[in-house]
Amino acid sequence: MPSLIQSSLAILALSSSALGAYSIDKAFKFDVHSHVVPPIYKEALIKAKYPVDAATGLVFTDGFPVPDWTLANHIATMNTNGVNYSTISISAPGANFYAGQKNKMLTLVRSLNDAMASYTTQYPTRIGAMCILPLPYIEASIAEIVYCLDTLKFDGVGLYTNADGTYLGDRALDPVFDLLNARGATVFVHPSKPCSGSVSLGYPDPMIEYPFESVRAMENLLLTGQRSQYSNMSIIFPHGGGALPYLATRIAGLASLPFMGGLSVPDSLNQFKGYLFDTASSTSVVQLIAMKQFFGSVSGIVTGTDFPYVPQAQAAAGLASTKANGQFTDDEMGSINNANAFRVFPKVAAKLGFAIV
Ligand SMILES: *[C@@H]1O[C@H](CO)[C@@H](O)[C@H](O)[C@H]1NC(C)=O
Ligand SMILES: *[C@@H]1O[C@H](CO)[C@@H](O)[C@H](O)[C@H]1NC(C)=O
Repeated sequence: MPSLIQSSLAILALSSSALGAYSIDKAFKFDVHSHVVPPIYKEALIKAKYPVDAATGLVFTDGFPVPDWTLANHIATMNTNGVNYSTISISAPGANFYAGQKNKMLTLVRSLNDAMASYTTQYPTRIGAMCILPLPYIEASIAEIVYCLDTLKFDGVGLYTNADGTYLGDRALDPVFDLLNARGATVFVHPSKPCSGSVSLGYPDPMIEYPFESVRAMENLLLTGQRSQYSNMSIIFPHGGGALPYLATRIAGLASLPFMGGLSVPDSLNQFKGYLFDTASSTSVVQLIAMKQFFGSVSGIVTGTDFPYVPQAQAAAGLASTKANGQFTDDEMGSINNANAFRVFPKVAAKLGFAIV
């Protein structure tokens, strides 16, 4: 179903652009993956006893330094990179460290959403926001979705691969998915650290655990049936889908065995192809070609920088080499730079004055 929907949307976009119903410069860059670090967030991390490096004053989460961040520098870096519009979110660990302390989590989440709202009101044509939720608290998360989408006019909702061990796909999350699905929401799933102990050998979780977290979430969404039940929402996974393009046929093959439920291989692969994957630190030849071969086109590839967590030198080099490394045509770059993102963020297109149909 998702792939059917995607291909008919692609045809719609094609025919409307052929009719000249809208024209967005192919170079217009829509970055679906950048982060903000509001001062209250850094304070909360320090209060929660994440380690602080004495020399730099940087706080480390998941074995990785949280970069210094300001809104002015965010906009300046967008300008340097030729990024026109960014959907901002809070990177892992989000507010997951307050699981078990409901009031503290709700207070932090609300302050973070209000902080992100203030950035979008300061730069409405440059910045949109993805809501952070107080998961695994279901009722509170539903209230936060309504607040963010209706009152704060956010572009979508941010989720993590797991919230205190509750992975996407867990049927406990169904009420949240019910609402997101009814809204046709677009969701950005950031990896968090694996819930089950230290598998990372003491290395930073972002290095390989984050990519496998994305795979784990997509695997669980497949095997619990949650994704097939809630197919009216768009879901972006970062970093080229983690290792999913490489592992998709293995997962689909295993899932087709009788003891796993005998799922149809083509259905499983189509479900995976209904996701969108961003290019943040996924711009090597191998990664870009794998994504295109996996989707069968570039329709699921969107631009991401992971600012400010990926150093600017790496992000800029990645943006600059995407076209050559993926051997993409100008039209394909237009899809990757903005058309695929506008397909799942139609309200942003409307806000910016781009008529989509
Ligand atoms: C997008 O950004 C580029 C580079 O900063 C700029 O030249 C262009 O005018 C922008 N496009 C729109 C539609 O704002
Ligand atoms: C799908 O999302 C749209 C909004 O994009 C909504 O109007 C529609 O009712 C949703 N459909 C279902 C089956 O929930």
